[in-house]
Amino acid sequence: SIYKKPVLFFNSGFDCNCCVIETFCDEKTLVISDKLNHASIHDGILHSKATLLRYKHLDLSHLKILLKKNKDKFENIFVISETIYSMDGDCVHLEELINLKKEFNFLLVIDEAHSFGVYSYGMAHNKNLIEYIDFLTIPLGKGGGSTGSYLICNQLYKDYIINKGRKFIYTTALPPINIAWNLFILEKMELFKDKRQYLIELQELAHSLVKKYNMNTLSTTHIISIIIGDNERLDKITNYLKEKKYFVYGVKEPTVPKGTSRIRIGLSPSLSKDNIIDFFQELNYALNTFF
Ligand SMILES: Cc1ncc(COP(=O)(O)O)c(C=O)c1O
Repeated sequence: SIYKKPVLFFNSGFDCNCCVIETFCDEKTLVISDKLNHASIHDGILHSKATLLRYKHLDLSHLKILLKKNKDKFENIFVISETIYSMDGDCVHLEELINLKKEFNFLLVIDEAHSFGVYSYGMAHNKNLIEYIDFLTIPLGKGGGSTGSYLICNQLYKDYIINKGRKFIYTTALPPINIAWNLFILEKMELFKDKRQYLIELQELAHSLVKKYNMNTLSTTHIISIIIGDNERLDKITNYLKEKKYFVYGVKEPTVPKGTSRIRIGLSPSLSKDNIIDFFQELNYALNTFF
């Protein structure tokens, strides 16, 4: 395969994450999970008999403290992270995480839902790090423009899931048209190079405008969340933007913590640079008008 490792296809990213964790994590396992990991990861842990610890979001020094404290107390340790996080558009330091793996010898699960496509075959593939990741999940619902998820892992784990993974076995496979579409996307990935390059330009432009207008974001990627405050202010701002024909969705409390309701912008190569400039001008106006 492109990934030079066995691949197993799941009907959804949710099932893929859940299945990996509930199949391999037992009562002798410690799972250390990023505090903001996706619901599918949390559910997988809840369905397993493992002990759970969570480290502060993207804080690998906190992860290291937890690893040091617990390294001799369990038979296995699993560490789970996403690459890009969709609520803020912030991103894990994958190389650093793999350095920790080399030091503490845990099993590493990485979810690339928000980096496949934008980073071609994914961030781990781009950085040549596939071999260090024990379970790489690639949900296709975002940049993949599809449905389902690849799981990239070694042959032993793959065979085990085929025989034991309940969310792999006890569900009907997706129809062939979906599989053909996924293959089509994989084959054409190289042809989208110009679009990916253009997306980086849009991303740089958008981030320069965020800075210029002093907007509040944690993003370093193509997903840009601007923290607004409470739900009421968010509604006023998104309504204004909708009147201006920008179809902007807010992410509200309780999906995000109180007081951090936000506008989430997902950049796409179908936008022009003028679209971005005009949008941020309107957003800046709204931020300075509605309180
Ligand atoms: C990080 C992440 N992982 C997994 C999933 C689940 O993937 P799917 O929609 O294919 O079930 C999502 C969202 O859909 C996600 O954002």
